[in-house]
Amino acid sequence: ARTRRYTFNVTMATVTRLCVTKSIPTVNGLFPGPKVVVREGDRLVVQVHNNINSNVTFHWHGIRQLRSGWADGPSYITQCPIRPGQSYAYDFRVVGQRGTLWWHAHFSWLRATLYGPLVILPPRGVPYPFPKPDREVPLMLGEWFNADPEAVIKQALRTGGGPNVSDAYTFNGLPGPTYNCSAAAGDTFRLRVRPGRTYMLRLVNAALNDELFFAVANHTLTVVGADASYVKPFAATTLVISPGQTMDVLLAAAAASPPAPAYAIAVAPYTNTVGTFDNTTAVAALEYAPLQGAAALRALPPPALPLYNDTGAVANFSAKFRSLASARYPARVPRSVDRKFFFAVGLGADPCRSRVNGTCQGPNGTRFAASMNNVSFTMPRTSLLQAHYQRRYGGVLTANFPAAPPVPFNYTGAPPNNTFVMHGTRVVPLRFNTSVEVVLQDTSILGAESHPLHLHGYDFFVVGQGFGNYDAANDTARYNLVDPVQRNTVSVPTAGWVAIRFVADNPGVWIMHCHLDVHLSWGLAMAWLVNDGPLPNQKLPPPPSDIPKC
Ligand code: C2O
Repeated sequence: ARTRRYTFNVTMATVTRLCVTKSIPTVNGLFPGPKVVVREGDRLVVQVHNNINSNVTFHWHGIRQLRSGWADGPSYITQCPIRPGQSYAYDFRVVGQRGTLWWHAHFSWLRATLYGPLVILPPRGVPYPFPKPDREVPLMLGEWFNADPEAVIKQALRTGGGPNVSDAYTFNGLPGPTYNCSAAAGDTFRLRVRPGRTYMLRLVNAALNDELFFAVANHTLTVVGADASYVKPFAATTLVISPGQTMDVLLAAAAASPPAPAYAIAVAPYTNTVGTFDNTTAVAALEYAPLQGAAALRALPPPALPLYNDTGAVANFSAKFRSLASARYPARVPRSVDRKFFFAVGLGADPCRSRVNGTCQGPNGTRFAASMNNVSFTMPRTSLLQAHYQRRYGGVLTANFPAAPPVPFNYTGAPPNNTFVMHGTRVVPLRFNTSVEVVLQDTSILGAESHPLHLHGYDFFVVGQGFGNYDAANDTARYNLVDPVQRNTVSVPTAGWVAIRFVADNPGVWIMHCHLDVHLSWGLAMAWLVNDGPLPNQKLPPPPSDIPKC
């Protein structure tokens, strides 16, 4: 194991997309940001210098951060933001994970442009559990806004309504040839392939607010990993990937010269609410021979993708994931649980009179909000982890996040009359090593919708999922405790539920939130406060000396 060092200079840089030239926050002037590569077991040190006129933090999405919570990065959870002109070094080890993860800013909506891949190779000499690909290609799916994303979310919070949607989906920052302007050909991500070769796509959904379908025309993909865990390989023509999730897939190029010189790679949104996405299919090119000009790119026939609201296709796809559960890569699924939680996850509202003045453009003249167990998370003004380390909780957090909804109702039926949420910075304290089960139940308040829930500091096992209301008596008996997939982000199905298990062996404060940024902005988050264990190697170490102050 070695130490890998990177420097992130956060600077504004000028880029042109969709014929719009503007200045955006970048890392080292790059969009998307630099690829970070480590081997399992390495220590990673990323020195960040903030040279933009905004606070910033960085999150290493999916990294376990075992006893290195100070490096996790969500602003006001594990650190105060890095202010303009300040620096902070993220310093942690990568333990027991391999595959693709990613890094992104974790302050407001800055991750719209501040993101990049984080590749974890196996230790030297350890092979992949699948045939070694000829080439590996990180492919980050994103969303491009012609407007300033910070202005978009500020405007939404001011008015109480939904935010403006993005203007295009992107492949490694490029929107593709669907957008007709003079730079169109250069705006397209092109993957040059040779017959007979195998390519591993390291896919990341870095979009702010959309779950995505992904397909390559005329090619079947083999999924071999998800969220930096290997899975039992399975074939698929269409993938579904939620914001925050990553997927390693093998693409076998045609054996001999294929019928066409190039094929379209496409993404399109999965959602249940028309009007909340930009309604475009973004296209990139898989080229056996280079295409000349934008017109040829635009003419590529798109692969067949499911309808935007095909929840059945999504459920079938997510049910295919299984851990390897082999001798070398065992699945250590908690067989029994110490504590069971039931979280109702969904949208809600605030009365129009609340906190910020202005017209209310939310449902029925209210303001949009989002909650778990009807508590909408209030971002504190100081770091929760710092407060926890100093055991100074007063005025910062309360340890009374409810283990179940205050008033149970038919979650997937008619919504309750009162859709207003409560507010607070509420956490669930957990004893070290508690085995936890959480059933995440979608609610139909203001419409059933799928929510990609992301847990910091842990990988969890997805032991069950289904439609309708979770039924403890029958559904629990059907859990997969043998080879469930291990992830850090799981979609709570539209009008359905998902059950996850993890062992709270990582002391610190860990946020769990919807990875649709607008839902996070509306409060769809809570935090676990995991106490120290008795042994020295079970305790959270003191904060690094350069940790930013609020
Ligand atoms: Cu990828 Cu808290 O986020």
